[in-house]
Amino acid sequence: MIRSDIRSLTAYHVPDSSGLIKLDAMENPYTLPDNLRSEWSHLLSSSNINRYPDADMLDLRRRIAEREGVDADQVLIGNGSDEIIQMLIMAADPGACAVPKPTFVMYEHIAKWLKRPVASMPLKADFSLDAMAFLNMCAREKASLAFLSCPNNPTGNMWPREDVQQIADNFRGLLIIDEAYGPFATDTYRDMITRNVMLLRTFSKLGMAGLRLGYALGDAAIIADLNKVRLPYNINSLTQLSASFFLEHYAVFEEQAKMICQERERMSTALSALDKLEVFPSQANFLLLRVANATAVFEGLKQAGILIKNLHAKGSLLEGCLRVTIGLPEENDRFVNALKELI
Ligand SMILES: Cc1ncc(COP(=O)(O)O)c(C=O)c1O
Repeated sequence: MIRSDIRSLTAYHVPDSSGLIKLDAMENPYTLPDNLRSEWSHLLSSSNINRYPDADMLDLRRRIAEREGVDADQVLIGNGSDEIIQMLIMAADPGACAVPKPTFVMYEHIAKWLKRPVASMPLKADFSLDAMAFLNMCAREKASLAFLSCPNNPTGNMWPREDVQQIADNFRGLLIIDEAYGPFATDTYRDMITRNVMLLRTFSKLGMAGLRLGYALGDAAIIADLNKVRLPYNINSLTQLSASFFLEHYAVFEEQAKMICQERERMSTALSALDKLEVFPSQANFLLLRVANATAVFEGLKQAGILIKNLHAKGSLLEGCLRVTIGLPEENDRFVNALKELI
């Protein structure tokens, strides 16, 4: 009754984090300021929940468009950017889905669900991407879709503008530049949007992971076609109201992102001073570390009440690697102190 290749998959695992300091999922550790929280609850209570949500979301698209400097018909909204990745893989021309390796796992997972071949290009030891080799792979594997996470998850680095531009200029299919971690990076590649280059962004890392709201920016004709595979009413009324409200108060989240970047630099300096640990440069809201005994360190941190992400089992470039999300200053201090005891 269920396809055998689906039966052989493992479902996306979300570890139980009850009682732990949660530094595993790149969430923003700061909560909503009290004044915003009460205004927001008031707004939600005004929602006509007996009605279906606004299906077209023109108002929300206009607000996003204004913030991003594009037209409203260049905006596609998804239930998290995950849903947009799914729409893209459903709708793209037949052909492989090209990705660097390692990168965000959902590109490959969703491609598998939709029986689309995946072509992956291993990153170099310093996590850099050989743009020419990537393009050659795309041509060889007849890729119709390529995803570049900039900055990349889980490595945290940003591929240089000229490399991404080279891929944008020469790739024959649809290139998706995924800026999920854009709020923490020093550059954006939004200016690269063309007929075959789209940008993907999310509210999740900026302080609204619970909303599930992501969006794509691209050519209006491509966005119109992608809308044909968007489920009707994919964004519920409460999320639409919340997203518009939060866009009005965007400066609050930008300020939080700034504090997260400062904490990232403070943590990076503290961790770099430790022996027996490698810390990689990051333009995201997390750091990638390499230690000799990753699994023991991961378990030891859990015992100490801190949950991070163990990437060691993924092997090759990620051998010995742990990914830690930047938390509140006191959470970060607890993490660094616990880590010192374990390496
Ligand atoms: C690179 C990248 N893109 C997209 C997503 C998905 O974000 P969302 O919460 O909007 O589905 C993530 C989540 O971790 C990510 O790391």
